[in-house]
Amino acid sequence: MRLLPVMEGLHSSEALNPSFLQAFFQRVEELAARPSDFEVALRGVMIATVFAEPSTRTRLSFEAAAHRLGASVLTVADAKSSSNAKGESLADMAKVIGGYADLLVLRHARDGASRLASQATDVPIVNGGDGRLGHPTQTLLDLYTLHRAWGDFAGRTLGVMGDLRHGRTARSLVWALAMLQVRIVLLPGQGLDWEASFERRLLDRFDYRLRWGKHPLFGDWTGNQEARILEPKGLVQKSLFLEDVPEVDKLDALYLTRMQVERGADIGQGSYPGITPAQLQNPLLATCKLLHPLPRLAELPPSIDDDPRACYFEQARLGPVVRQAVFLAMLRQDRWPLPPLTPVPTGNADHRLGPCPNANCVSHEEGLSAPWRLIGSKRRSFLCAFCDTLLQVEYAGCRSTNKVHALSSAAAHRIRPENLQPFLSRQDAERAGYQWGG
Ligand code: NCD
Repeated sequence: MRLLPVMEGLHSSEALNPSFLQAFFQRVEELAARPSDFEVALRGVMIATVFAEPSTRTRLSFEAAAHRLGASVLTVADAKSSSNAKGESLADMAKVIGGYADLLVLRHARDGASRLASQATDVPIVNGGDGRLGHPTQTLLDLYTLHRAWGDFAGRTLGVMGDLRHGRTARSLVWALAMLQVRIVLLPGQGLDWEASFERRLLDRFDYRLRWGKHPLFGDWTGNQEARILEPKGLVQKSLFLEDVPEVDKLDALYLTRMQVERGADIGQGSYPGITPAQLQNPLLATCKLLHPLPRLAELPPSIDDDPRACYFEQARLGPVVRQAVFLAMLRQDRWPLPPLTPVPTGNADHRLGPCPNANCVSHEEGLSAPWRLIGSKRRSFLCAFCDTLLQVEYAGCRSTNKVHALSSAAAHRIRPENLQPFLSRQDAERAGYQWGG
């Protein structure tokens, strides 16, 4: 039996939306409550897990999920044993494996690998972690863990701590939490903050604002008692009117992450933020759930594992059942439908913008120029459609009038999205046959 894939895969948490999540959580609950109802849900289906980067729990949890649904599993667990080591392109590999399997789970060191692979094959690709960009199934299980602990998300406050610059789990989770109107306190290690353009995009997309909040514990963790807070514009704290930088009095959850040394993280002589048993006595953390995607290092000492606020082993335990629900959503919409994921545009490869500015973008390895996609309506920006890096577009051409304008001009703003042709310079546009339109 070959089941038709009905979704194009799951590449980043940008695809998640509240109605999908609500139904998804219910599906996870059904799977947990009545596992025997789903034992043969994927009988005759072949799932390939291709992990071109080390992984233990994520790969095994995907494979456990496949087996629990009666699917067969093909696996490439070691990058050195894959044809990637012989120089085969990712696109070719996806095309070939897509001919053997009905779904491909991919882990890869390059940003945007999952999206690129999905353009090479008809079978859905599930991103099992690509570079520092995305890890949407980890986000789903983080969200499900929080949903079990909190019920509703709106109005909650979560601190996210550690290596925000190189870690994909925090980035991926924070995007989804902003979609759910959660207030987010940023606690990066020194020099391990994410790039400003990611935060700008999030603030614009979800109508969030940036403010500062303080607490002595923030100083213990990051060296600065004041932390950046991202929150929905609608939320106005009473204390905001009393002092310039209000004290944060409660965290509902703290998401810890390890330092991603393999991606170049380095804090020199500084200390990496982590939690201690003594800090758990602080009223800020009185009802704070502790989450971590694992593996952990010194930031999360085993001596606190028995604390009732520790959720990270429960989080890991939920991995397979959450991934079962992902497989059903990808492959069995006919029998177990879910609301659609939000489509993310595949991008337009027709341009002269040169290589993607992100050195870790998958486009470089594959010898491609990055396809662009447009975001924002008030303020238009162009992103690499593989890795979401902001492209330096200064001029916008209109394909119907053949005129080019400065991107910030009113004339450029009036160009319909389907007619837009981005350029780095006016000369590039003129060379391509566009006339200057002011
Ligand atoms: C995370 C990952 O690979 O991004 N781990 C995981 O999926 N279990 C986090 C990490 O490696 O630090």
